[in-house]
Amino acid sequence: MQSHRIAVIPGDGIGVEVCGAARAVLDAIGRRHAIDLTYDEFDWSCARYLAEGAMMPTGGLSQIRHHDAIFLGAVGAPGVADHVSLWGLLIPIRRGFQQFVNLRPIRALDGRQDIDLVVVRENCEGEYSEIGGRLYQGTSAEMAVQESVFTRPGVTRIVDYALDLAERRTGRLTSATKSNGIIHTMPFWDEIVAERVAERSGVSVRSEHIDALCAKLVLDPAQFDVIVASNLFGDILSDLAAAVAGSIGLAPAANLDPTRAHPSMFEPVHGSAPDIAGRGIANPVGAIRTAAMMLDHLGHSEASDNIMAALESVFSGTSVRTPDLGGTARTEDLTRAIIEAI
Ligand code: NAI
Ligand code: MG
Repeated sequence: MQSHRIAVIPGDGIGVEVCGAARAVLDAIGRRHAIDLTYDEFDWSCARYLAEGAMMPTGGLSQIRHHDAIFLGAVGAPGVADHVSLWGLLIPIRRGFQQFVNLRPIRALDGRQDIDLVVVRENCEGEYSEIGGRLYQGTSAEMAVQESVFTRPGVTRIVDYALDLAERRTGRLTSATKSNGIIHTMPFWDEIVAERVAERSGVSVRSEHIDALCAKLVLDPAQFDVIVASNLFGDILSDLAAAVAGSIGLAPAANLDPTRAHPSMFEPVHGSAPDIAGRGIANPVGAIRTAAMMLDHLGHSEASDNIMAALESVFSGTSVRTPDLGGTARTEDLTRAIIEAI
């Protein structure tokens, strides 16, 4: 039996609820595939911030550095500014562990829609940068400056990852750009994309301006396979594509350090959804697919496929759906149906 030690950060709101669902599924799959998962749970969250003044303890990263993977629900709570939860927890983990790939597969589960694509989002630099500042605060001359950071190594490694993935899939890569309006960083991005693809045969790249790309993704998602995008563009695109595929509650994500020097972190795309938190109606599927991605990363592709097949059979063979998909099922009903299918 193979053993793995997982650091679990349930977080806030529905993060806690979907984490519980994902763990129930992981326990069932572990029994079936002889995988021994042990969990260490961390209370890092906005609740902790309100009680103790920090999302995570000083030196928190060293507590999870030696785990095989990190599983996170979602963080964010009314009363705590969103930049506190993002910069106090998610970004330090993503950057501290050089999880430079944010992988977001988008696939409809009911087989009714022709959408099966992966957004490869750059996860360590780009528009999400703390370089900048504010001047003359509180006066009529108040101003804010925020710098984007694009580096040759940073862009090269994400483009190479996306090219590898496209090669293994259909050979079609779309690069999200905006080189007409953003005239320094985006032409730089485009140049590196062109350089890297020139070294490959078997992959074709199409560059699309992000605004037009959004419109095409809504109107005809079937034309896309792998999409590589900067941090901000990839963030927006993946929420959009998830909604096109049915609900943001269905979408999984992985923050990967492909070099495996550090643990990777697995978290659904959605946030803590304060509007529905505590009511037991959150869609657990995004978190459960996230668990499948984690198993795949840990070398258990059969167990991962088993979860995906169970999800597909629940979606094609039953009408158990949470309210975000138009149903009346509760989180636990859908989770139970998935475990029965496993
Ligand atoms: P959100 O994803 O939490 O919610 C957006 C909408 O989608 C809401 O109407 C919500 O009810 C619905 N929704 C999301 N996940 C769902 C699920 N599993 N089942 C059913 N419905 C679902 O995004 P929002 O409202 O922008 O952010 C809420 C909080 O979450 C904020 O504090 C934000 O900063 C945080 N957040 C955290 C993330 C993370 O921890 N990775 C990612 C995105 C937002
Ligand atoms: Mg987002």
